[in-house]
Amino acid sequence: MRIRIRDFFETLDVCKETFHPNEDWKEMEACILILDGMGLIGIVYYKPYKEKKELGIVIRKEYWGQGRGEKAIRGISELAKGNGITELIAKVFTKNRPMIHLMDKLGWECYEEKLDFKLFKKTL
Ligand SMILES: CC(C)(COP(=O)(O)OP(=O)(O)OC[C@H]1O[C@@H](n2cnc3c(N)ncnc32)[C@H](O)[C@@H]1OP(=O)(O)O)[C@@H](O)C(=O)NCCC(=O)NCCS
Repeated sequence: MRIRIRDFFETLDVCKETFHPNEDWKEMEACILILDGMGLIGIVYYKPYKEKKELGIVIRKEYWGQGRGEKAIRGISELAKGNGITELIAKVFTKNRPMIHLMDKLGWECYEEKLDFKLFKKTL
């Protein structure tokens, strides 16, 4: 199977209000691909953010609400820990209710709150 991560990001159809992938694919340090059969339906990763490592995740909309996001965040946290990383952070738009819900559910701590986004952290 041949996958071009760049193509995936460029053809994303997710809501632009809550997710701006920009050129994240260039900065990813590690990632887990989320597959359905032979197709790439999502990706979870971390990338440098100042002195820290920032979590990123996106799943194609038609696959939301089936537990893949939760499983993926758990998976990348384990991978990061195995790579010697002790903390991940995530920047989440306040209106992104599913992601805010997942952060709470998985025990991430909100350590900064701005007008339209929250910063979460998780000790690994
Ligand atoms: C965030 C995202 C990865 C979640 O993926 P997913 O596969 O739907 O995640 P899950 O199915 O594991 O969990 C979603 C949870 O949100 C909950 N949820 C859905 N809509 C919700 C809402 N409006 N308010 C509160 N919770 C909501 C679901 O009930 C579920 O929780 P539960 O398992 O406790 O019932 C997906 O929505 C996505 O790709 N969004 C676009 C990209 C994005 O926003 N990335 C995050 C940037 S920081």
